[in-house]
Amino acid sequence: MRVVVVGGTGQLGRELVRALPGADTVALSRAQLDLSNAPAVAPRLAALAPSVVVNAAADNRVDAAEHDPAPALAVNALGVAALAEACRATDALLVHMSTDYVFDGRAARSYTEDDPPNPLGAYARSKLEGERLVQALAPRHAVVRVAGLYAAGGSGFVDRVLARARASRRLRVVHDQVTAPTWARDVATALARLLPRLVAGDAPGGIYHMTNAGACSWYEFACTALALAGVDAEIEPITSAELAAPAPRPAYSVLANTRLAASGEPPLRSWRDALAAYLAD
Ligand SMILES: NC(=O)c1ccc[n+]([C@@H]2O[C@H](COP(=O)([O-])OP(=O)(O)OC[C@H]3O[C@@H](n4cnc5c(N)ncnc54)[C@H](OP(=O)(O)O)[C@@H]3O)[C@@H](O)[C@H]2O)c1
Repeated sequence: MRVVVVGGTGQLGRELVRALPGADTVALSRAQLDLSNAPAVAPRLAALAPSVVVNAAADNRVDAAEHDPAPALAVNALGVAALAEACRATDALLVHMSTDYVFDGRAARSYTEDDPPNPLGAYARSKLEGERLVQALAPRHAVVRVAGLYAAGGSGFVDRVLARARASRRLRVVHDQVTAPTWARDVATALARLLPRLVAGDAPGGIYHMTNAGACSWYEFACTALALAGVDAEIEPITSAELAAPAPRPAYSVLANTRLAASGEPPLRSWRDALAAYLAD
């Protein structure tokens, strides 16, 4: 099974390469395959002859996309369309990563894979467009939505919170956005189990939600991270209105991992256990 990981240098891409040690895996950086250069995608993939393509690449600059949506659309939608067409041409399975932000967050319960999306901002709209292009263009596909991803490497929420706490001892974190923060390693482990089953047709394609279990606000998540890491800092809970970020975000974007369970796969551990394991790692 040759697996090509697009966005192989990102948080999830790196963890996925680590989780697939026995597979014939090719990880592509942006320099090796730039999704915003759509015509370059098909020849690059054809040369690699993958049986599976995992698209872990994205333009994740949520706030920047509000001012200028074009770069996010180029990578998260148009580049994804090129990837989907290339997968159709080579009969490869496309596993495309997406986000809890496709939902508007107004639900009073966790979102299942069948709930209708309603993205609030430009980044989220570009990701939903990418999902729809995958569904329309890649006959063999899975769309895997994750949330609040963090991993080693400095750019994730946990590392940023710890760095800021150590530097200034004061933080302001929103308490009115609730999600299921998820260690990229746990998604990678679950994907490594699911991929061969998807390839074999032993698990169905379509949409999967894949997050650590449970839910919390970003404020609770930050408090827990500091407590587990033994870092002393003052955290002020603030509202999204006080933060006034350019992009609107869902107030409640917890994903029910319904299809993963229905496929007989084990649930991902709780966000607290995952965070403790991440900090101990
Ligand atoms: N981070 C989150 O909290 C979060 C939440 C929900 C969903 N997701 C989704 O989960 C997936 C993985 O996210 P992540 O956190 O692992 O992302 P990440 O750490 O920001 O990594 C993004 C990856 O995409 C690559 N990339 C960016 N622009 C590209 C382009 N034009 N062409 C090709 N590659 C490009 C980057 O390459 P370079 O390193 O070379 O720039 C990097 O490898 C994405 O689909 C994302 O939308 C993430």
